[in-house]
Amino acid sequence: MENKIDILNDKIALAKLGGGEKRIAKQHEKKKLTARERVEYLLDEGSFEEIGMLVTHRTTDFGMEKEIYYGDGVITGYGTINGRIVYIFAQDFTVFGGALSETHAEKICKVMDMAVRNGAPMIGLNDSGGARIQEGVRSLGGYADIFYRNVQASGVIPQISAIMGPCAGGAVYSPAMTDFTMMVENNSYMFVTGPNVVKTVTNEEVTSEELGGAITHSTKSGVAHTTSPNGIECLEDIKRLLTYIPQNNKEVTPKLNYVLGDEYREQLDTIVPENANKPYDMHDVIKGIIDEDSFFEIHAAYAENIVVGFARLGGRSIGIVANNPKYLAGCLDVKSSIKAARFTRFCDCFNIPLLVLVDVPGFLPGTDQEWNGIIVHGAKLLYALSEATVPKVTVITRKAYGGAYDVMNSKHIGADMNFAWPTAEIAVMGAKGASEIIFKKEISEAADPAAKLLEKEAEYAELFANPYTAAQRGFIDEVILPKDTRRKLIKAFSMLENKEVILPKRKHGNIPL
Ligand code: COA
Repeated sequence: MENKIDILNDKIALAKLGGGEKRIAKQHEKKKLTARERVEYLLDEGSFEEIGMLVTHRTTDFGMEKEIYYGDGVITGYGTINGRIVYIFAQDFTVFGGALSETHAEKICKVMDMAVRNGAPMIGLNDSGGARIQEGVRSLGGYADIFYRNVQASGVIPQISAIMGPCAGGAVYSPAMTDFTMMVENNSYMFVTGPNVVKTVTNEEVTSEELGGAITHSTKSGVAHTTSPNGIECLEDIKRLLTYIPQNNKEVTPKLNYVLGDEYREQLDTIVPENANKPYDMHDVIKGIIDEDSFFEIHAAYAENIVVGFARLGGRSIGIVANNPKYLAGCLDVKSSIKAARFTRFCDCFNIPLLVLVDVPGFLPGTDQEWNGIIVHGAKLLYALSEATVPKVTVITRKAYGGAYDVMNSKHIGADMNFAWPTAEIAVMGAKGASEIIFKKEISEAADPAAKLLEKEAEYAELFANPYTAAQRGFIDEVILPKDTRRKLIKAFSMLENKEVILPKRKHGNIPL
């Protein structure tokens, strides 16, 4: 018996060593944690239970039968984060560079299936040289098995991918299909084809970092939802993100205890400038509304003309979508529409109520936008907000012009409560543009056209640059004092807590892609 126990202990010790001391040292030299260290850090102390520790690959080509490592380059199992169950895989770069074999994929699929069956988030820590070259198509089949499961799990359990090393070729498509892709700065990259292939095909000289590093994907492509300066911070971000999210699509995020107190926030009264053309930062409005230090921003450096992220409001987890007049005057464009639509759909999948803050002068004009399909991309946001059945509340802080008024969670597309500040301007367009069109003749025939334009502008602004016409129609439920916004919203979301919408049966809608 003793002997048998020793055999098991030896196997476990060997498995824990991954690709061996030398390769572990190499990993540390690159300022990267090993897969095991990452799992230990991410999960509550002592909570990790490994599944499939003794799995090995089955390849005999290229002398592979002599290179056997327990675990086969990926650590899989379950544990808890802040006491809540999660399933996890962590690719071990010390074993064949974390490359994905048939058995490596089988291990990942097994925990994915368990995560879906048992209704808990799936977290993938990616650090891999891609398909296990020695296995050819078996490895590609393994990827596809994972992709298929990503899609089946989509909208059922939250799926989070951290990119903590290389992630190239086919490997990129699993993270892309999960809900969040979180990258480590200067130590991770994602691309479909690497710099060498790029050079051969397009003659472009580009480094891995420029082509697919964290900064590139968080500013240019939008592939990365968050970036962190190092692996530890990335794992901390995963822990924080999970606090806003329920375990699965049948649950709601646990609410923190909160007693309604003095909720006035005087600073909100002075954020919107007197001059309607002056910018301000919508982050200040968000900060003034939500529970202290509770904003977790997604896509912070991408399409900054719209802000999206999670927050707590009176202890409740909410998703925020907000135009930011600090960038592009808060206009909607291709990137911001896609960003906000994706976030909206995540919140709707997982029962997270939505707060939409509006200051939008319209869609960004120009050939660049039109030729890049702003019509279809803008429609994504319109579709996503219309389709969402979670509690939806809107606050118009200033401009809500044209079609963008409709899109930004207007009453007409199913918002539950629509508030406006006294500074709101709800109209087809700004007073100047409107006057130039409807009073064109009068202005051109006037003795002083410039003075006439100003006069007409003032007339139009008086009539429409306010929230009262919309309030008279009931399109706005209440015009509120900015400083009272927090209290109004806490009460509104509480009132909407048991909202239920029964939809007609259909296979799925056809969102314009
Ligand atoms: N299949 C099998 N083994 C792989 C592998 C793969 N796709 N990628 C890396 N490895 C192995 C290496 O042979 C090496 O093994 P060793 O420890 O026994 O020497 C180990 O993983 C580490 O790789 P190495 O190249 O030394 O690490 P690096 O940090 O210098 O480079 C990569 C990392 C990912 C850039 C590089 O390994 C690479 O380009 N890999 C191939 C990527 C690819 O084309 N994948 C297939 C397409 S999806």
